[in-house]
Amino acid sequence: MSSTTPASDDRPQDPQQQDLSDAPRQAQPRQAQPRQAQPRRAQPRDAQPHQAPRPQVPGRWRTAAAATGLLRPDGTVASTIFAEMTNLAARTGAINLGQGFPDVDGPHAIKAAAIRAIEHGHNQYPPGTGTPELRRAVADHQRRRYGLDVDPDTEVLVTTGATEALAATILALAGPGDEVVTLEPFYDSHAACIALAGATHVTVPLHPTPDGFRLDPAQVRAAVGPRTRLVLVNTPHNPTGTVLTCAELQVVADAARAVDAIVVTDEVYEHLVYDDAVHVPVASLPGMAERTITISSAGKTFSFTGWKVGWLHGPAHLVEAVRTVKQFLTYTSGSPFQPAIAQALADDEAPRALAASLATRRDLLCEGLVSAGFEVVVPRGTYFVVADGAPLGFDDGVELCRRLPGLAGVVAVPVSAFCRAPGTDEASGPTAALALASRVRFTFVKREDVLRDAVRRLGALRST
Ligand SMILES: Cc1ncc(COP(=O)(O)O)c(C=O)c1O
Repeated sequence: MSSTTPASDDRPQDPQQQDLSDAPRQAQPRQAQPRQAQPRRAQPRDAQPHQAPRPQVPGRWRTAAAATGLLRPDGTVASTIFAEMTNLAARTGAINLGQGFPDVDGPHAIKAAAIRAIEHGHNQYPPGTGTPELRRAVADHQRRRYGLDVDPDTEVLVTTGATEALAATILALAGPGDEVVTLEPFYDSHAACIALAGATHVTVPLHPTPDGFRLDPAQVRAAVGPRTRLVLVNTPHNPTGTVLTCAELQVVADAARAVDAIVVTDEVYEHLVYDDAVHVPVASLPGMAERTITISSAGKTFSFTGWKVGWLHGPAHLVEAVRTVKQFLTYTSGSPFQPAIAQALADDEAPRALAASLATRRDLLCEGLVSAGFEVVVPRGTYFVVADGAPLGFDDGVELCRRLPGLAGVVAVPVSAFCRAPGTDEASGPTAALALASRVRFTFVKREDVLRDAVRRLGALRST
């Protein structure tokens, strides 16, 4: 994203001075845990030298930029930490464990199916709701895996990745005056879409424990109130690797039901769970199917992140509302990819094999991080691990990530990039960004030889 400078804007340019109706607030943090480090997000680093005033560009883009920590005090837009770190990796030759995409494509048979579909003429707009075969495959998958009864004709919508499913759902169902509750840390598009909808973002922190990052039920109950329109959960969770337990999800479900809120659940890592962890779809809890929109996609499950085939399902009246918005976003996409993913969804073997191989790669990276001196919360899902740089003397994850390529030839991203910008809600106490300031996220969805090399390089940290 290039910088856009509404320099003569007469509205407040500092995101912290803006109307905070769409700034996130955190539900009563459990207790103050101040750390010495001031957590930072990436934007100050690439602040532009003073330039001639540019025309102001009004619009909701500002709130989306502010909600994701990208709006600088001078009104310009910073690039994301992911872009900065990817550039850093390219410049320095460091191994990029910052961005979570696989370095090996998914199964050949699925690629061949897409090629066949192109050759057989699947090249024009597919139906707006998705091809019937993919909608059927989604419904069959949900029944086979989770016992969910889904009508492929009225209760499934194919989208341009989970990203569009999230955007269409939030834009369709939430608006000004509504609150949308998410976990914190959160995937950045959750925050951006809430801001674009004009709703208020309320967060519930995940706390690092020896048993993973966990929810505090009291904080869930405190966050969900009469203004809550949506409760957006993400399990397995990016960036922490948490797989929410049935008991945790029940707390969320009870809280949502108590105020008649809709649950939106981002389950893109549903197949990537390890050890004894079990992925529980929120919609499978008693009474929840009727108030839940379930979102997933093919990108992570089949290692085709660039195909952007996603879907959602839920009760027909909610799906109709979301479809109404979705048709004006992309209308439709992925004509040859939809039949290929329909074929892929019918077979549970490829995701099972991917999860087994990722479990080995997770162990390899976690052990390497521990021997390099990090403290690690071992993830039970996704392809990310959160490591704490504090034992190595790094209290600031942003600083650590900027120095890591030079120190060890490896790139990671700071967990604070997945948190509200510090200071957006001083009244409610320290933010998750503060509590997680020294933590950084590494991905293990890279070939074993790449991870071995990364682990060898990280060993250099011991001697710094
Ligand atoms: C939690 C989460 N949700 C959604 C997405 C986006 O999925 P898709 O590529 O299908 O749009 C990602 C991608 O990283 C993610 O981590």
